[in-house]
Amino acid sequence: MNLETSYIFKSKRLGFRNWKESDIPKMAKISGDAEIMRFFPAVATFEQTKEFVFRMQKMFEERHYCYFAVEELKSKKFIGFIGLCFQDYEAQFTPCTDIGWRLDKKFWNKGYATEGAKRCLEYAFQVLELEKIIATAPKINEPSISVMKKIGMQKKLEFKHFKLKDFPKIEECVCYEIQQ
Ligand SMILES: CC(C)(COP(=O)(O)OP(=O)(O)OC[C@H]1O[C@@H](n2cnc3c(N)ncnc32)[C@H](O)[C@@H]1OP(=O)(O)O)[C@@H](O)C(=O)NCCC(=O)NCCS
Repeated sequence: MNLETSYIFKSKRLGFRNWKESDIPKMAKISGDAEIMRFFPAVATFEQTKEFVFRMQKMFEERHYCYFAVEELKSKKFIGFIGLCFQDYEAQFTPCTDIGWRLDKKFWNKGYATEGAKRCLEYAFQVLELEKIIATAPKINEPSISVMKKIGMQKKLEFKHFKLKDFPKIEECVCYEIQQ
């Protein structure tokens, strides 16, 4: 029996795949961590993570992309998500496809987010043939904005995120963009 995980694509050190039910508790631990979620209004509950995973599985079926479940190839460990997500919330740059990332803090500072995001852009432009990808983050989320810059995205605008209007520290956001 072949127990090798089938990835949608790989980068040098990471494998990208659709979500499995067994990822839910692992992602819930990541999204339930106050340090990892310090630029969000709140940590996510187990139920919210379950809904997130189901939403990503559905998006993958419909669009052939989602925020992918990511594994470290050498250990086969699930490390979080990096990927693409269709967005239609109220903003001047939506509807659009964005790129995003959330990794277990044990896997920060290894260059994984940047390596994975570059690989996802390749998939977006060469396989999906999307024309433009955007990324957003609160202005104070420097680690995330640094990834945007390192993968070649350019700052397009600053905006107040309507979903964050009750959270003044993170309401002011930036939108970066990269074209095919
Ligand atoms: C945003 C996030 C994914 C960034 O992760 P990260 O590990 O800091 O990002 P990178 O992959 O760019 O790695 C950064 C560092 O790894 C180091 N590094 C170590 N080994 C490396 C290697 N082989 N190759 C490249 N960089 C390496 C580099 O020094 C780099 O830092 P530098 O660019 O300042 O030199 C992470 O902070 C996170 O999950 N945050 C919580 C969720 C979140 O805020 N998401 C975004 C919402 S908008």
